[in-house]
Amino acid sequence: MFDDSILLDLTSELPRSVRQERLVVAIRTYFGCGAVGLLKLDGDCLCPVAVDGLAHETLGRRFVVAQHPRLVTILSSRSAVRFEPGSPLPDPYDGLLDSQLGMPLPVHDCMGISLYLEGRLWGALTLDAFDGCVFDEQAGDKLAHSAILAEAVVRMSRLEEEIRALRAGSLVSETLLGDEQGSGEGEIIGQSAILLKLLHELDVVANSELPVLLLGETGVGKELFARRLHRKSPRHNAPLIHVNCAALPESLAESELFGHVKGAFSGAMNDRPGRFEAANGGTLFLDEVGELPLTVQAKLLRTLQNGEIQRLGADQPRKVDVRIIAATNRQLHEQVREGQFRADLYHRLSVYPVPIPPLRERGNDVLLLAGNFLELNRARLGFRSLRLSPAAEQALCSYDWPGNVRELEHVISRAALRAVSRGALRTEIVTLEPEHLALDATIIRTINKAENALIPEIESNEPAVSLKIAVDGYQRQLIRQTLEACQGNWANVARRLDLDPSNLHKLAKRLGLK
Ligand SMILES: Nc1ncnc2c1ncn2[C@@H]1O[C@H](COP(=O)(O)OP(=O)(O)OP(=O)(O)O)[C@@H](O)[C@H]1O
Ligand SMILES: [Mg+2]
Repeated sequence: MFDDSILLDLTSELPRSVRQERLVVAIRTYFGCGAVGLLKLDGDCLCPVAVDGLAHETLGRRFVVAQHPRLVTILSSRSAVRFEPGSPLPDPYDGLLDSQLGMPLPVHDCMGISLYLEGRLWGALTLDAFDGCVFDEQAGDKLAHSAILAEAVVRMSRLEEEIRALRAGSLVSETLLGDEQGSGEGEIIGQSAILLKLLHELDVVANSELPVLLLGETGVGKELFARRLHRKSPRHNAPLIHVNCAALPESLAESELFGHVKGAFSGAMNDRPGRFEAANGGTLFLDEVGELPLTVQAKLLRTLQNGEIQRLGADQPRKVDVRIIAATNRQLHEQVREGQFRADLYHRLSVYPVPIPPLRERGNDVLLLAGNFLELNRARLGFRSLRLSPAAEQALCSYDWPGNVRELEHVISRAALRAVSRGALRTEIVTLEPEHLALDATIIRTINKAENALIPEIESNEPAVSLKIAVDGYQRQLIRQTLEACQGNWANVARRLDLDPSNLHKLAKRLGLK
């Protein structure tokens, strides 16, 4: 029997991630098995949304269904599917088992079932059993039963999210259909509180007509966020036109943006509309706006002020209806001060500035993104399995990432190639170590420094408290802060502090934190 925790959960409001995590934990306990995964279908990929017993970075992986025969079999059946311990089919979780990181999956018993929501295929539930434990004859029926519960939990999460969106007045028809991410292309990966807050803010502003200025370091994903903003806006059926201002030579910029008429300059053989007209009814994305030549800035300002453009050489202005999203990795206000950017244009564009946080502030999202890039490289290079050693995970989490997500993507791709060139076999599990990542040791982050800074300064030669009280106090403070950084996820706290989860549990109880 299931314990009642999942049914009880259904009677109260919970964040989606918590609800789904509790579901997989309850199912794992019910079956007494080694690992459980809840995966959502997005385009041609299955995306793990909650896992128990598997490495945390699994959550960032996107399993292209066609590349994983077990997943194909599960999705193409409406009933529970079992893969006997001797099954030769490769397993998507190979090397990802939490208790045996980087080890080949032991001989194991595996089951899965597809999940449906409102008659449409939603995803799948997978179960793996190890250590001689096997699924008995009733397991298929039990799994079918669990699938109903899983569908109810997923449906509840979706309804809650729709209600929240309705309350916030930001329900677009797309949300009603349920697919938050839309197509797999350009998916934004991450679950940190700071990222979720940003996505929520973007969804709210997407619904308005305000111009948005996306600010952030190089490689933080400004282009991805701009695309999402358009996709979530009422203009999503109209075009999104991307203009890279850094690539516009000054001499051509005006005609590119506003178009020209035949004969406007030598070489203008025909009338030609510019990007503004192409974006009519939709969105114009002015990427790298800080690079726009000053002369073009003046014309752009005029268009933004009166909603009109004038093709080069034309007598009459034309009305255009365009929403502007701009992005830059420059400090625009400093450019204004230095006279490289017009203050009036800056004020027009920055009606709604959105700072995109750098990767180093997104906590464990680094691992999720790494998981995503690992799976992409695994498939591209034809590896059986590609994963990170615990030391490599630690190295990624304590690196400063000046080039942000783009840099992480390159680091993982290079590390995979380095592993092969140093003799790793594609048919074995390839585990990336810190040497493969080759991160620049001079920009290892402040975590270590910050942790040192946490150690209370001893003010006098004679400490006023006993060593035990002082140590307890320090442990309490460290656990609390780490818990906050891990958004309340105790399993992650244990991992970060390199503690056994049950020891952490005992310690937290003793310190009065649980
Ligand atoms: N949260 C994310 N999830 C998945 N991929 C991401 C995420 N953020 C960024 N990326 C990927 O990282 C790369 C860099 O992102 P992008 O080009 O949007 O950065 P940018 O902020 O525009 O940088 P720059 O200022 O240098 O132009 C892209 O390949 C993008 O797909
Ligand atoms: Mg960019």
